[in-house]
Amino acid sequence: MGKELGINLVCTLVLAPIMAFGIFAVSWWGTAPPRPVPTEVAPQNHNTTGDPPETAAAKLTTSRPVSGRLLFLANCASCHGADGSGTGEMVLDRPARSFKQGGFSFGNTIESIDRVITSGIPGTPMPGFKATLDPRERLAVARYVQSLGPPLVEVDPDDTIMRVTDRPRVIRGELSPLGPDRPSHVRGLITGGTDGLSWEYRTDDVRLLAVRQGEFVKRRNWDGRSGDPIQPLGRLIRLVDDGAPGPSFYMNGKPVASHLSGTSVMGGTMAIRQRLGDTGIDVTETGLAASVGALAGYDRRFQVTNPGGNQLAINLNLSGSPEPIGTDGNGITWYRSSGPGGLVELTGLHNATLGQVGDVAVALPGNVEEPINIITLLAPEWTPVERRALLGEEPSA
Ligand code: HEC
Repeated sequence: MGKELGINLVCTLVLAPIMAFGIFAVSWWGTAPPRPVPTEVAPQNHNTTGDPPETAAAKLTTSRPVSGRLLFLANCASCHGADGSGTGEMVLDRPARSFKQGGFSFGNTIESIDRVITSGIPGTPMPGFKATLDPRERLAVARYVQSLGPPLVEVDPDDTIMRVTDRPRVIRGELSPLGPDRPSHVRGLITGGTDGLSWEYRTDDVRLLAVRQGEFVKRRNWDGRSGDPIQPLGRLIRLVDDGAPGPSFYMNGKPVASHLSGTSVMGGTMAIRQRLGDTGIDVTETGLAASVGALAGYDRRFQVTNPGGNQLAINLNLSGSPEPIGTDGNGITWYRSSGPGGLVELTGLHNATLGQVGDVAVALPGNVEEPINIITLLAPEWTPVERRALLGEEPSA
């Protein structure tokens, strides 16, 4: 089923073991991020299988070495500049980062640089390279990028900083307000996936508040009793409904409260298990980075158990009204709306249809046996290029 659906999920590899759960993990190699010029060519290996480290290491002995510098010149310099100063020949509304000044707001460890290169940055011109560079190449270019920055200062590792390394993590506690006139949440949690995304939820009535990318969290005390809120370290890529989202679920047209029943590790991400009021409906929600071509974003998936067969609706938390774009070859139906900060928000529904409760746009689940996917991509603009990337139409000659 690997190629059935058109989303290039960053965690395809890690998720493989939990396919039994019914998750689709998929690949799309039809559209590549812009891959600008230089001709004295880097060794391009189109292996996109996401090799596990052992095989990547084994290949080292059999194929030629990968030069991070050449890969950088071929794939990155047009935006980041040949010297990494952020002034490439491509003129961007949102300029590329200068690595020389150490401006790494998504973290300057090899791990975090590698994750950004793999997934891209939603809502910016920074594309993901999962489909065009293999893991070994991404690592080589990450090392090169790190070397362009100022020397890393070795500090005593601050023991209150939690990092996500090879396993996803979750932390519970008080959450600070997400804006000047926003509430704080005494009961909240933040999950961090191995793809570099972190997810902030209030848990009294489970609602996604924000999605971040970069480092995970810092907390001021470990016993969790001092009342200091958790400090998320990632950069916001999405503030849901301006930090004060409405209900996550509706049943038979009425909002229904969602109670946290627990969290568990699923592959590279955390699953949030919740029970909706006294309806007997259980929902397990996971979130992963997703990309289609150069468009980056995330994929929320919901596995629902609905013994009473009630009509469930999942809030899409859209800020604009959704215009249909079309359905891609994998059965994902795409909608476009105006997102936060002047971005174009692209919403893909799989195994769900668009509906409405009052004036709230919702997803109405299809086959309850299958997971429902709600994919969000944030694009700086909407042109025929983005449209083709989404729908997989070949560019006309
Ligand atoms: C089409 C232009 C473009 C290309 C090509 C591109 N980038 Fe970027 N990149 C950007 C922009 C723009 C940002 C800043 C996004 C933001 O945060 O606003 C960025 C940000 C980054 C960051 C995050 C820095 C931070 O703040 O932590 C890294 C790392 C990065 N790029 C690496 C690369 C690498 C490596 C390549 C090539 C494999 C590459 N980029 C190719 C435009 C590009």
